[in-house]
Amino acid sequence: MNKLISILASTVIAVSAMMTTSGTIKTSADADAVSASTEKTTYTIQDVRNLQGFILAKPVEEDLTGKPYDLNGDDRWDVYDLCLMRREVLKNPNTAYDNDTLVIYFSRTGNTEKIAEYLIDITNADSYVIEAAVPYSDADIKYQDDNCRANKEQNDKSVRPEIANPIASIDSYDTIFLGYPIWWGQEPRIIDTFLESYDFSDKTVIPFCTSASSGIATSEKNIKALVPIGNQLEGRRFSSGATKEDVKAWYDTLPLNEEKSDNKLKISVNGTELTATLEDNSSAQALTELLKQGNITVDMSDYGNFEKVGNLPQSLPKNDEKITTVPGDIILYQGNKITIYYAENTWDFTKLGHINNITQKELKAILGDGDITVTLSN
Ligand SMILES: Cc1cc2nc3c(=O)[nH]c(=O)nc-3n(C[C@H](O)[C@H](O)[C@H](O)COP(=O)(O)O)c2cc1C
Repeated sequence: MNKLISILASTVIAVSAMMTTSGTIKTSADADAVSASTEKTTYTIQDVRNLQGFILAKPVEEDLTGKPYDLNGDDRWDVYDLCLMRREVLKNPNTAYDNDTLVIYFSRTGNTEKIAEYLIDITNADSYVIEAAVPYSDADIKYQDDNCRANKEQNDKSVRPEIANPIASIDSYDTIFLGYPIWWGQEPRIIDTFLESYDFSDKTVIPFCTSASSGIATSEKNIKALVPIGNQLEGRRFSSGATKEDVKAWYDTLPLNEEKSDNKLKISVNGTELTATLEDNSSAQALTELLKQGNITVDMSDYGNFEKVGNLPQSLPKNDEKITTVPGDIILYQGNKITIYYAENTWDFTKLGHINNITQKELKAILGDGDITVTLSN
């Protein structure tokens, strides 16, 4: 169940430490403080965010001095600790859902709000309602009147109506659904205020709108041109009579789950993109975390007539065991080398994953005989 949390009053969720204004956010979590184990340190989802921010050298507003984040006892905080922490937090049955999706919307007469609420139910996302500092009165939106406030604002692309309840940060969210009514074929200017207030360069943004009849396309173009967005997915216009089933049917078509998946590795080689499914081990998780900092390019050479091998920019935790490889296996060798196997070999090393749906012949043709450069991404 979603629970309304006043940011100023919240003492449990450390998100409050990042928020300084009176904005309110509904979280899907009943409680974020979880105990990783009754014997061990208690870690919260916020600890995971803190450590991730520290590793990515992002500003973390909480003082991390003295935090017990060296989980593997090697006197430093790195992706290995992050993997162990995430695992501890997530395996606890009482763990609150670590929500990375936010539904944000502005709605003056309730139509967009209804769609947003269906979406919140479907996604179990957190939500946030944009409210105007000077609320729009009925006269303000009487579009038959040329001089009404809404018409004047829509006629001037530079207007930025103030938001009454800005949230201080959207950093912890990866995916943002952004809802609004269409006003004169476009997004209301207060949506522009919102977009210009935050950094969306690493976010997936999905616009949705309601209107009497106009489409969403112009507003989508405006949004794209206004601010850098990591990944803007195609949006959707709904009529005021749209049902929850309509919203669910749209949601199911979105290429979200695949993109958010933490168990996929993309390997770009010689103009071909391969997808591997990663193993469920700390090595693969550490690679996934590393890739969140950016793509990795690896120069690989051919070795032993069975593999391409190259150096990773940093070591990953090992989970070595005796393995006989099959074509398509992605292997971690000595903790700091990644290999793509196109033939059999038996050795003690760590399986990171396996390339999907490819034959040995196809793989050999893509990899070629000599040195190659591959790009790894999430
Ligand atoms: C100022 C104003 C301009 C509007 N312009 C359009 C328009 O260009 N095209 C359209 O189809 N509907 C237009 N509408 C209708 C709204 O888009 C529609 O009623 C919407 O569902 C309202 O959403 P809300 O209830 O979330 O505020 C306009 C409404 C207002 C108030």
